[in-house]
Amino acid sequence: MNRIRPIPLLATSLVLLFTTAANSYAQTDQEQLGDFLYNDLQLSEPAGQGCVSCHDPAFGFADPEQHLPVSEGVIPGRFGNRNSPSAAYAMFFPEFTLTGGIQGGQFWDGRAATLAEQAKGPFLNLVEMNNTTRGQVIGKIAQRPYAALFEQVCGPNAFAPVNVDRSYDCTATSIAAFEGTVVFKRFTSKFDAVAANQASFTPQEKEGWDLFTGKAKCDHCHTAKVGANQPVLFTDFKFHNIGVPENRELFALLGAPFTDPGLGGFLNDPKDNGKFKNPHLRDIEMNPPLYLSRYSD
Ligand code: HEC
Ligand code: HEC
Repeated sequence: MNRIRPIPLLATSLVLLFTTAANSYAQTDQEQLGDFLYNDLQLSEPAGQGCVSCHDPAFGFADPEQHLPVSEGVIPGRFGNRNSPSAAYAMFFPEFTLTGGIQGGQFWDGRAATLAEQAKGPFLNLVEMNNTTRGQVIGKIAQRPYAALFEQVCGPNAFAPVNVDRSYDCTATSIAAFEGTVVFKRFTSKFDAVAANQASFTPQEKEGWDLFTGKAKCDHCHTAKVGANQPVLFTDFKFHNIGVPENRELFALLGAPFTDPGLGGFLNDPKDNGKFKNPHLRDIEMNPPLYLSRYSD
């Protein structure tokens, strides 16, 4: 994976001397630990799946498997009922809140308030990394080459059974710290270059931009205002029902019909059924819809 950042030579060589992590920007110890944890394929049951498997930088931090409507867990044939959203730019979603209009949170229904809360889920999810207990996860980390770094960041006796909950929380906050780094918010698309007056749209791109922000009203939800205090993320962080029908291809994978209630399921309120978190559209070309990848082969 080539994720070398153009940073000053001195900083680069220092980091290369003192770290073995995949990224060469200056990481804090906790970010580095998060990097190891995020990219480790040995923490699932059985080994073979990590966060990176479903949130791959080469695919906009979403699922590289584009022939399936949803993501497959570490056990072949076990499917979740939703597709992986991008883990990049996820840091910009504010904490889930009900006050002043429902917004924010992680997951399609916002049910994890923060990135750290979110990161506690996948290790123990039967259709993802499939561990049965927190202790099983921490026991695996104790066997990894970065175990000493884990103890340094997460406290003395991090691997003692009595500290399992503290260590599990620290695992999640470390992953969230890594997910807050520049790796997950590059802002290096052509759109950003155009917004900074360093490039210009082709006529076709310009037409798309005019439609997006004009007649087609995409920016009504996928906010695209340049020059506001906030970087352009193409989301209003809110939940909307845009009338996406059930995906019948999913029924065969799950072995049963499934209608996703979205936000209504999380809030247990049928009036919110069918509302989903408005995703940011960054790197969207790296993770096209199923039909595009299927018919372009
Ligand atoms: C088997 C595939 C799979 C694995 C492994 C996996 N995820 Fe996910 N991830 C998903 C799916 C599917 C969702 C959406 C689930 C939902 O909305 O209920 C998701 C949602 C997320 C989100 C929310 C993004 C948003 O905008 O709402 C983040 C962040 C995330 N995952 C990070 C992680 C981290 C960190 C790990 C490792 C600890 C991980 N994922 C492991 C499939 C996976
Ligand atoms: C009323 C708000 C709203 C408007 C207007 C809107 N969208 Fe969306 N968009 C959403 C929501 C919510 C989702 C997620 C829906 C879901 O998963 O069921 C979404 C999903 C998407 C996705 C898929 C993103 C992903 O990660 O899977 C794309 C691409 C997209 N919209 C582009 C557009 C374009 C282009 C327009 C204008 C033609 C547009 N949207 C108009 C709210 C909106």
